[in-house]
Amino acid sequence: MDKNATLTIGENAYKLDMLEGTESESAVDISQLRKLSKVITFDDGYGNTGSCESKVTFIDGDKGILRYRGYDIADLAINSNFLESSYLVIYGELPNASKLEDFRKKINEYSELPAQVIASIKANPENTHPMGVLASALQALGGAYPQFCTNDRAKDMEVFDETAALIISTVRTIAATRHRFLKNDSLPSKIDSDSYCESFLNMMFGTENDSKEIPAAVINALDLIFLLHADHEQNCSTSTCRMIASGGANPFASLAGGVSALWGPLHGGANMAVIKMLNEIHDSGDDGSGFIESAKQGKTRLMGFGHRVYRNYDPRAKILKSACDEALDSLGITTPILSIARRLEEEALKDSYFVERKLYPNVDFYSGIILQALGFPTDMFTVLFAIGRTPGWLAHWKEIAENGKKIHRPRQIYQGQPLRSYKTLNNR
Ligand code: CMC
Repeated sequence: MDKNATLTIGENAYKLDMLEGTESESAVDISQLRKLSKVITFDDGYGNTGSCESKVTFIDGDKGILRYRGYDIADLAINSNFLESSYLVIYGELPNASKLEDFRKKINEYSELPAQVIASIKANPENTHPMGVLASALQALGGAYPQFCTNDRAKDMEVFDETAALIISTVRTIAATRHRFLKNDSLPSKIDSDSYCESFLNMMFGTENDSKEIPAAVINALDLIFLLHADHEQNCSTSTCRMIASGGANPFASLAGGVSALWGPLHGGANMAVIKMLNEIHDSGDDGSGFIESAKQGKTRLMGFGHRVYRNYDPRAKILKSACDEALDSLGITTPILSIARRLEEEALKDSYFVERKLYPNVDFYSGIILQALGFPTDMFTVLFAIGRTPGWLAHWKEIAENGKKIHRPRQIYQGQPLRSYKTLNNR
């Protein structure tokens, strides 16, 4: 790109390069600004900051576009599945039949956890949230496979394909192991399925000796949810994962950090918060209008609404809204919270508060209702988001390992005390 930008600070004008992405997004490159001017840029919450160049996912938030490696999310939702899309997200291209088969086989082979990792999952205090368990179990998994977890980037890259298959496979085993342990139960001894989601559903709900017959509608709904969560460019958890990776940390540590960042209610924890909100509205006898009023007054937030990047309908929410109807219909489930959710959406979309702020339903608005219908306990919803997001985190770890030159290290504007002298204890 030939364009430059000029920034004038006081008497001085600084000529800065411009960067342009393949979808014509442009950015002023300020990486030399401090060196030239001693001034840094300030962007609280990074709403205006591009932290990297990436080839994984493209989002146009104004138009409601989401693409993995150039493929539209709606196209993938109809034609692909979670494992194939995971391969695409991680390796950049759709796999041919033999590559897909190898990927699937490798993932299936890794589905069991080493005994020490199982012991570490069980050792967590009873009230540890499943996200806390997942984060610590990923660290333990790295310990059980030291050859994949060297903290030497070149060595970790050599075995990346194995590591990726191991982590994609075992995030579901970790989640199911903890769930069953809390019910004084262990995983079924044999899971006979090539399907990633069917195996996971059997780990969760199968009986000791029998693989449970899981309806196709359930398997497909879960697969779709995972596919829709597979990546979402530089969100809070992915940026955390990249930040950790930039210091040279191994994939296990980087993903454990991603899991912790995802946990919060403004990020992946929103899917749990949506169900809590819908249940509270239902239990209070409100038809939703009282809740919308308190959200408008800033007393609460309409969970599952709004997004830092989308100023339009989140394309994932659009897909999940119809998937929700289909899944509930095919399972013969009716739930009052679905009609509350629909009413909240309808009211919010015509209310000037939400319209002016461009607040639309996001991916978490309908996903929780589907997950509840599939039989998952509410406190596992964010773990399901994490399972879906695992290929994205791995893709970003790989991108850093292949291209990342610098450790990520933002600056700050210090607003604390100026230099002062130490006061002895009796002078304070
Ligand atoms: N309900 C009511 N008001 C809202 C909401 C909401 N859900 N979201 C934003 N606003 C208002 C906010 O009060 C502010 O109003 P004002 O300009 O009068 O102060 C304005 O909209 C802009 O909000 P913001 O907090 O500056 O926007 P943000 O880009 O920093 O936050 C968000 C994005 C997702 C954190 C926020 O919309 C939110 O808290 N939503 C609810 C939680 C949620 O559903 N999170 C899941 C996000 S999608 C899954 C994922 O990728 O993690």
